[in-house]
Amino acid sequence: IILIYFFHLTLIFLNCTPGRCLSRFDSSDVGNTTTLLLSDDGDTLFVGARNAVLSLDVSQEDAIVMRSKLDWSPSEKDLDECSMKGKKKTDCPNFIRVLQFLNSTHMYACGTFTFSPRCTYIVRYYFLLHPEEGRGRCPYDPYQRNSAITVDGELYTGTVADYMGNRPVISRHLSEGGHVDLKLDDTLGWLEDPTFISSNFVPSEEKIYFFFSEVGREYDFIDKFTVSRIAQVCTSDVGGQRTLQRRWTTFAKAQLLCQSDNELPYNVIQDIVTLPPPEGAPVDDTLFFGIFSSQWSVNSGQSAVCAFRLGDIKAVFAGNYKVLNRDTLRWSMRVQEKVANPGECGLHNASDNTLRFVKENFLADDSVHPVGRSLTMVSPDQRYSHVVTQRVQAANGKDFTVLFLLTESGYLHKAVLLEKGAHIIEEIQVFEQPQPVKNLLLSISKGVVFVGSSEGVVRVPASNCSYYWSCAECVLSRDPFCGWDPSVKVCTHANSIQDNVGQDVEGGNVQEACASPMPKFRFGLNKGKADSFPVGELVSVSLNEVVRLQCPEASSLAHRHWERPNSRLSPDLYLQLEDGSLHFLATPATLGHYLCLSTENGFQQNLAAAPGMMTTREKLLLGQTYLKELVVVSVLLACCVSVLLTMALYSVRQRCRSRTAPQTNTPGRDSERGGPQEREALRGGQSPCSNGMRNGQMAHNGQANGVVCNGTPRGSNGHLPNTPI
Ligand SMILES: *[C@@H]1O[C@H](CO)[C@@H](O)[C@H](O)[C@H]1NC(C)=O
Ligand SMILES: *[C@@H]1O[C@H](CO)[C@@H](O)[C@H](O)[C@H]1NC(C)=O
Ligand SMILES: *[C@@H]1O[C@H](CO)[C@@H](O)[C@H](O)[C@H]1NC(C)=O
Ligand SMILES: *[C@@H]1O[C@H](CO)[C@@H](O)[C@H](O)[C@H]1NC(C)=O
Repeated sequence: IILIYFFHLTLIFLNCTPGRCLSRFDSSDVGNTTTLLLSDDGDTLFVGARNAVLSLDVSQEDAIVMRSKLDWSPSEKDLDECSMKGKKKTDCPNFIRVLQFLNSTHMYACGTFTFSPRCTYIVRYYFLLHPEEGRGRCPYDPYQRNSAITVDGELYTGTVADYMGNRPVISRHLSEGGHVDLKLDDTLGWLEDPTFISSNFVPSEEKIYFFFSEVGREYDFIDKFTVSRIAQVCTSDVGGQRTLQRRWTTFAKAQLLCQSDNELPYNVIQDIVTLPPPEGAPVDDTLFFGIFSSQWSVNSGQSAVCAFRLGDIKAVFAGNYKVLNRDTLRWSMRVQEKVANPGECGLHNASDNTLRFVKENFLADDSVHPVGRSLTMVSPDQRYSHVVTQRVQAANGKDFTVLFLLTESGYLHKAVLLEKGAHIIEEIQVFEQPQPVKNLLLSISKGVVFVGSSEGVVRVPASNCSYYWSCAECVLSRDPFCGWDPSVKVCTHANSIQDNVGQDVEGGNVQEACASPMPKFRFGLNKGKADSFPVGELVSVSLNEVVRLQCPEASSLAHRHWERPNSRLSPDLYLQLEDGSLHFLATPATLGHYLCLSTENGFQQNLAAAPGMMTTREKLLLGQTYLKELVVVSVLLACCVSVLLTMALYSVRQRCRSRTAPQTNTPGRDSERGGPQEREALRGGQSPCSNGMRNGQMAHNGQANGVVCNGTPRGSNGHLPNTPI
């Protein structure tokens, strides 16, 4: 084995899309950066990658800098042997799957190492010590999931312990002194083909909880029914003296049920995280937020999020246990007398009789139900793969739970849990391509979410309040991180605002939260200032061209529609599309002012305005002071042009009438109804709208036409990049 250690710096680039700047680390010589571990101060991110352990400096806001890279690759000979055993060459490298802090000077890492797992100490983060066998600590197959956690220098793992992947174990390693390494007794089928998801230490209970899915043998009426489980062991466990020697005496498991009444359960756990209780609340209020998918095709495209309370979990483990009838291989509720409490800590010098009882009674009779016996949320249309969570105090002192959920297609959803359900605040595109193996890590102190994947590590700021340009947008976002600062008129981090914070996470009531919710309507083309509202724009068009006015999307919950002052838009003449745009033919009658209104949560606001269109080819840039003049000039010009046009068209019509049917529409009142061709052109697939324009820009005969407040461009598969949804 060749272990080299070297030191180099790589500066990583910043990748900005509307709303978010993501810093990305991806280096061509390191891949599969999926195991993440953050230092206590939040400044260093340790990454388990392919053949390497990296330490990344993440203390700067706009860059990720590689501090060091520990190379830990198999030799050519090892790799050759691996492919001779029939494994794919690309699966043979050393994929680091366990990375943990042991103490202030040592880390511990394990990798798959050519389907022959190895582990090693890492001293002061820079030196690898002699690797040892990693059986039972790390999977053989890089595609198998595992879990690992260290408590007091001991390593607790859930993984498979053989090459074929048939021997799952939950075990303890690196024990010293009076503690011994422990594992599961595998004579009784304590685990049934599990997929390990994660593990968690609850100090007040002195217990480690393991989360996984497995075959639910107690449901023998359904073939291969998958159930999600929580299992527990005590950190004080030292095994039995005769019975259960060097085996867990405190192992117990229970079903985690993510199901709402009378619906099929979301039965396959994908990820789970812990949310500590609010300050001053009992430890039993600790919550576990899990993502579950379903085995059934009815809801296969979706995921559910369920929350489980520690108090409920403890109650289930303290209750009755099922018993396996060895003749029929059926599980039933125990009827005999209870000899001991399975799952109880401190059974090491219990009698053989007691230990035999706990050995056989390890499956809790009751299931752990989610908080409120209902789902916390269901994903809108894609499956979630990973979750992290945080409690955020809103300006009014109330706590809100914020979830960051990674979709399988590479988007990050930020959701806040409100009394009437979850509200998705925004959707951020993290990856262009869906990534199979991922990891998510939240740094609360730095306010960022790290995403580790096959491609690299991405840092996503947890919020960007300056994205919301008005008080109304700021309040409607329901983002507990953000509030409107009325003194400087910006949406900013709520805890940096002195007083009168404009925020209403629960109600989203703009009228109450904003003193003057609407910024003054302004003329001009000064786009791009964070605190300015998208202003009206003057659009120049040629007569008889198709005009498309874009309305920026503030939120997908908002309903948008266009109006003209003092008149409704006739559907014969105007086409209002789902995406908020307005299409119509430029005729003298359609010149004028247009306003896009957005209604959300009962609050209406102007999003865009097209103040007057001119029949010139050039765009006019006008300041506010010329507002009145502009209107007068526009009206006069419009009148002149209409009169001229009316006359011209009238004479054309007279001439045409003698030949064929009329081709042109009479302007003025008649044109409000529009000619048949015109309507056809606006609606039909052959319309100039559908082939001549992209992103609100018209490429029609090469004539540049103005666009009103260009909306956010759409990314692929219909998602809005980084826009609140
Ligand atoms: C926040 O959003 C604004 C406006 O879209 C953008 O200019 C800025 O770069 C973003 N900042 C971050 C840190 O993402
Ligand atoms: C950290 O753990 C290693 C390995 O068990 C041990 O050799 C070392 O002395 C420990 N260091 C401290 C400071 O406890
Ligand atoms: C229980 O075991 C501990 C060692 O683990 C021992 O010190 C103690 O004496 C034992 N207690 C009894 C009652 O056997
Ligand atoms: C490693 O990354 C590559 C893409 O870079 C991916 O195809 C492969 O599946 C990954 N392997 C594992 C074991 O995650």
